[in-house]
Amino acid sequence: MVLKYQLFINGEWADSASGETYQRVNPANSNEVVGEFQKGNSEDAARAIDAAEDAFEMWSETPAPKRAAFLYKIAELLIEQKEKLARTMTVEMGKTLTDSWADVQEAIDVAYYAAAEGRRLLGHTTPSEKQDKFAMAVRLPIGVAGLISPWNFPIAIPARKIFYALVCGNTAVLKPASDTPLCATKFFELLLQAGIPKGVVNLVTGPGETAGMTIIKDPRVRVISFTGNKETGATILREAGIKRVNLELGGKNPIIVMDDADLNLAANGALWGGYETTGQRCTAASRVIVHEKVKDVFERLLLEQVKTLCIGNGLDPAVDVGPLVNKAAQEKASRYCEIGKSEGAKLLTGGKIPQTLNGWFFEPTLFTDCTRDMKIAKEEIFGPVVSLFSAKDLHSAIDIANSVEYGLSSSIYTSSIRNAFIAINKLQAGLTYVNSPPIGSEVHLPFGGVKHSGNTREDGPEGVAEFTELKTVYIDFSGKLQKAYLD
Ligand code: UN1
Repeated sequence: MVLKYQLFINGEWADSASGETYQRVNPANSNEVVGEFQKGNSEDAARAIDAAEDAFEMWSETPAPKRAAFLYKIAELLIEQKEKLARTMTVEMGKTLTDSWADVQEAIDVAYYAAAEGRRLLGHTTPSEKQDKFAMAVRLPIGVAGLISPWNFPIAIPARKIFYALVCGNTAVLKPASDTPLCATKFFELLLQAGIPKGVVNLVTGPGETAGMTIIKDPRVRVISFTGNKETGATILREAGIKRVNLELGGKNPIIVMDDADLNLAANGALWGGYETTGQRCTAASRVIVHEKVKDVFERLLLEQVKTLCIGNGLDPAVDVGPLVNKAAQEKASRYCEIGKSEGAKLLTGGKIPQTLNGWFFEPTLFTDCTRDMKIAKEEIFGPVVSLFSAKDLHSAIDIANSVEYGLSSSIYTSSIRNAFIAINKLQAGLTYVNSPPIGSEVHLPFGGVKHSGNTREDGPEGVAEFTELKTVYIDFSGKLQKAYLD
C-alpha cells in the first residue's frame, strides 16, 4: 500500500489546490514506491506565505530564548528518531545508512548550536563619536523566509535553514527538493510534535517551476535561502526582485597532492572525498591534482581502492556506494563519461551503468591524464566520477585548481607548512582543508563558496547573519542638537 502525504500550511496538513500528486520511488529499487506526495502549486505556496506572514508578528515578538526552547525540543526528538529518519532517508534518496545517520546527526548539532544563539544574537556596541550619545547595532528578524532545499542532505540542510531562520525570529516556508518530500514531511512531523505555533513553519512539496517560483517572486518573502545547482541559483537571482538572496551552489572541488604528502593518507582522502555519498555532495572531491613526481604511485594507490568499492543498496552495511538520486542523474554521469573519453581523458575504471542492479546505479569512475580545458574537468557531474591531473609544482597545481568557475571547497595534502599556507592563501574557495578531504563541514564554522559556488555563508555566527537585519541605533542623551560631522 502506498501512503499519501500532505502539505503543512498554517498548522494543518492539507491537500494541494492542484488536486495532483506524484510518486517517489526508491532509487536503489525502481519497483518500490516510497510514497505519494502533493504537487503543490502557486496557490499553495501563496497560502503558505499568507500563514507565515500572519504568524510573523507573534513569532518575532516571542523572546529569542523562548524560540530557542523549541529547537532544544526538536533536537531531542531528532535524537529519538535518528534511526528511523536515517532509514527513511536511505530508502528515499539512496545514500548509505551511515551517511544518513551523519545527516541526522548534523541536524541535531545544528539544532543545539542555533538554539544557543537564542541567548546571543549578538549585535555591536561601540562608542559614539559624540559626547552623551550611545551607539549600537541590534539584530532583528527579516520577515518571511523562503527556504529551498536540495535532496542530497534532506534533513541536515532544511535543518540548517529552518533552525537559523526561526531562532532569529523569522517565519518560514520550506520547498524541499521534489526527490525528497518524505524526509521533509517526517521532519515537519517533529516540528509539529515540538509544538511550534501554527504558521511559523510551512511545508509545500512540489515542482520548483510553480511552488518554488512563487516563493521566489513573492514580495512578501524577504529572504531566500537556496541550496542547489548554479543554473537555478542564477534564475533565482534574476526573478527574486529586491530581497535578500542567499545561495549555496555547486562545486568542482580539488584535492592537491604534493610530492611531500603521505600518499596513503591522500589516497584514502581522495577515495572518501570523491565517492562518499556517491559523489553527490557539493563539496565532493571531483578533481585530484597530483605532483608529477608522485603521480604514478598515487594513481595506483587510489585505483586499487576504487576497485574495492562495493555498489548496492545503502541499507546493506557492506555497501560503500549507493545509487544516484534519479534516472536523470544516472544519465548525466554516463554522458559525462562518454564526453571524457572523447576528450582524450584515460578511463582507469568504471564509466558504466551496472547492468545487474535494478536502480539508478553508476560505477565508481576514475579518469586520469585530464587537462583543465576538458568538460569533465570543469563541469559539475554530481556523481562518482573523479578526474586526476598532474602538475609540475604547487603553483601550477593551484592554477589548475582555480581554473574552474566554482570555488566551494578545496584541499591540499602536504607535510610542508609553507605549501599548506600558500594553498590556504591562494586557493579560490570558501573552504580549504589541509591533510583531509574537502567534505565534512562542522556546524559551528561558516560554510559557503566563492565565485559561482554562491554568495553567502551558512552555519555558525554567519547563519545568524543570513537571517537577520542589523538595525543601527543612536541614542542622544545630551539634550541638545548635535550635528554629525559639523560640530
Ligand atoms: C551540500 O552538499 O550541498 O561538508 C552541502 C559536507 C556537507 C556538505 C553539504 N556538510 O560535505
